[in-house]
Amino acid sequence: MEYQAKELFAKHGVATTLGVVVETAEAAKAAAEQIGGVTVIKAQVKAGGRGKAGGVKLAKTPDEAFEHATNILALEIKDLPVNRVLVTPATPPEEEYYFSFLLDRANRQYLCIASVEGGVEIEEVAKTNPDAVKQIPIDPGAGVDEAKAREIATEAAFPEAVFEQAVAMIQSLYTVFVEEDATLVEVNPLARLAGDKLEALDGKVSLDENASEVRHPEHEAFEIKDETDPLEAKAKDKGLNYVKLDGQVGIIGNGAGLVMSTLDVVAYAGEAHGGVKPANFLDIGGGANAQVMADGLDVILNDAQVKSVFVNVFGGITACDEVANGIKGALEILGAEATKPLVVRLDGNNVEEGRRILDELNHPLVTQVDTMDGAADKAAELANA
Ligand SMILES: Nc1ncnc2c1ncn2[C@@H]1O[C@H](COP(=O)(O)OP(=O)(O)OP(=O)(O)O)[C@@H](O)[C@H]1O
Ligand SMILES: [Mg+2]
Repeated sequence: MEYQAKELFAKHGVATTLGVVVETAEAAKAAAEQIGGVTVIKAQVKAGGRGKAGGVKLAKTPDEAFEHATNILALEIKDLPVNRVLVTPATPPEEEYYFSFLLDRANRQYLCIASVEGGVEIEEVAKTNPDAVKQIPIDPGAGVDEAKAREIATEAAFPEAVFEQAVAMIQSLYTVFVEEDATLVEVNPLARLAGDKLEALDGKVSLDENASEVRHPEHEAFEIKDETDPLEAKAKDKGLNYVKLDGQVGIIGNGAGLVMSTLDVVAYAGEAHGGVKPANFLDIGGGANAQVMADGLDVILNDAQVKSVFVNVFGGITACDEVANGIKGALEILGAEATKPLVVRLDGNNVEEGRRILDELNHPLVTQVDTMDGAADKAAELANA
């Protein structure tokens, strides 16, 4: 969120104003009183385009701050409820620039994107006036020293009056990017304020979760419980690799590659069944025992959108008979909570024994299909029924 990004900016010496984060209109009024003068009330949600959605408003008085905060806290921006607002001093920008560092996976390097035509949607500028948006590759081994920062500031054509400040800020923003293990650091607008003062008026930072446990335990504090999808939170608690998607066919598989291809075949099969789509990504990994299977099913069955579940497992180190016993055990653990049809496709080690165990179980919710495409079709059909 913006207010958290600004905390990271301040920590690494990027000029910014922190402001006060509040959850009620009363608190917004009090914050505006404390700050004094004209303030800006800004919706804090993990989505872009807040200004356009009515989520950024100037307040001349504390009463106006109360009124704007009331309205903004009632908004949904890109389907996300606004639970907090940032109250910050109004510092009208004289010019607005765009600046970011990001991880360029395709080219295996970092990329800096900079434009002196920021403020508005940078995607729009990139379309209508692509020359105004500079892309400067950065060799991660070499990083950004003062010379590279000068090269970037020159390429982006920061005006003379703020050029030296830009050079310093580019280096500080790079420190945020590298030292915090970020995959994105974005400032839009990077503003030239009265008196030619350069300041980050907005901020967006994506942190690499792979770094949080060992390198940055302090990043845990950035997680805001009421902003996390409840199913994803539950899955995280149980140590499952789960991503909620917008569909009707729940997916459980083992191995990220198999799960990705399962999403594809289900999306394809869904075209013939009313356009149903996969509801999630869930990789239960190698050790698909009963408890892991039960945890996975528990998360998926609690997704109100899910109408059927496709369990697609290739027996390797964990052979199919263990997986079948896992499914059997999971259904026992879940009992009456298991209410949606399961289509199971097993293949690989000990497949005959695995299929026999499920045949013998003869559970009313379980259908076995031997091929991946056939099972995807059956799961899509059941989701559409
Ligand atoms: N402290 C401030 N004082 C005066 N104007 C501000 C301030 N903060 C933001 N603004 C103005 O509001 C505009 C929108 O603010 P901001 O960039 O934070 O939101 P946004 O761009 O709508 O959101 P997002 O970046 O999520 O798309 C800025 O371009 C700037 O003109
Ligand atoms: Mg912005």
